[in-house]
Amino acid sequence: MSIWRVQGGYPLDGSLTIQGAKNAVLPVLAAAILTGSEVELTNVPRLRDVEASLNILRHLGCAVGRQDDVVRLDSRNMTGCAIGRELTGQMRSSVIFLGAILARCGQVRIAMPGGCELGPRPIDLHLAAMKALGADVSLEDGQILCRTDGLTGGHIHLALPSVGATENAMIAACGAKGATVITGAAKEPEIVELQGFLRALGADITGAGTDTVAVRGFTPVRQVGWRVMPDRIAAATMLCACACAGGDVELRGLDPAHVQSVSDALGRMGADVHTGSRRLRIKCAGRLQGGGTIVTEPYPGFPTDAQPLLMAASLKADGVTVFEETIFSDRYRQGVEMTRLGAKVAIAGRRAVVTGVEHLHGASLTAEDLRGGASLIIAGLGAEGETTVFDRGHVARGYEGLDRALNALGAHIDFTE
Ligand code: EPZ
Repeated sequence: MSIWRVQGGYPLDGSLTIQGAKNAVLPVLAAAILTGSEVELTNVPRLRDVEASLNILRHLGCAVGRQDDVVRLDSRNMTGCAIGRELTGQMRSSVIFLGAILARCGQVRIAMPGGCELGPRPIDLHLAAMKALGADVSLEDGQILCRTDGLTGGHIHLALPSVGATENAMIAACGAKGATVITGAAKEPEIVELQGFLRALGADITGAGTDTVAVRGFTPVRQVGWRVMPDRIAAATMLCACACAGGDVELRGLDPAHVQSVSDALGRMGADVHTGSRRLRIKCAGRLQGGGTIVTEPYPGFPTDAQPLLMAASLKADGVTVFEETIFSDRYRQGVEMTRLGAKVAIAGRRAVVTGVEHLHGASLTAEDLRGGASLIIAGLGAEGETTVFDRGHVARGYEGLDRALNALGAHIDFTE
């Protein structure tokens, strides 16, 4: 059990460079096995989910090495095509390996990823995409089995703009003969990043960032290097942390457009936000205003991953903020914990209503998921006294030293593994 001890009352001040993106590096690590050769990734964050992915690659027979922010992997001697429960249990999003292993090996066996703290996490769209490319898909005692004598390009339509299903479809289509069109695709920046990586491998792929992606099967080039993009949700976390604690924070190395829906919301609440080339500065002095209604939507709408973070920023606002969570069915657990700080959070199904209060007091809280855990830590920045967050490793899945990053800006957080 990790413990975060947060002393409230210290404003944040300074600048920092945002870590590499968890949700960009995971699909890139999967796609890397298409090459059957060496891939070198830089700006790779130190995260539990990254370590879980590296373990899966080793389990499949890849040579994997890491030094600082550099990961080198060589999949030429890859022999495995199965990922068992012991590995999928470490990381729900291990389903992202489905398309890559199928394209590389002609078959894949992967344990059904369980649901998670956010609610059910179906993968029907992922499996429909594999079928659309000609794979046989079956379920056998909790394992997904996909087989093909050779994938054939086709039309994949995603009924929902699923990020993971779009990524699996793009990667598998690279191993299919002929052309594939993916309609109803997700448009997240991480999808555009994956397209960039696949192009670096030699793929003929266009359209990422729109709802239609076109891919032609190709033979990958050898030996590729790639730098991972900055993490827009880690950036949103720091913006909301400044809103909780007050202060003046500059973020470097990111594309401000990737967090615009979050910075716009904070601006409407009274934060002073300035954007520049690859940098974004936020100043929060005095009490913010309520945020109106925040509806989570696929990109470029307000990201579901930032909903808990903006909720933390809204707890002491002068007014009401209403959240409508349209993506996941159980993503308000942090709201119940926040009431222990003295916050007023009323939850009914997909809606949460925050009525701002003038003061929050420290309390003992429990992190139930990755972004919810981060939201409790930043909420503690604005509470009087000490807030203790008990965490079963959720936060470390997605943040590289969140305590170090915040303490470098003036926070007083003591973290024990
Ligand atoms: C990705 O998850 C992210 N994870 C999530 O971030 C993020 O919250 C989510 O996209 C939405 O933006 C990674 O990229 C590793 P989805 P993913 O498929 O791909 C439904 C974090 O905190 N759905 O876009 O699993 C699903 O139930 C994590 O970093 C189906 O119905 O999300 C959900 O309601 C949390 N069938 C909606 O689509 C499917 O086959 C969006 O899910 C797949 C998804």
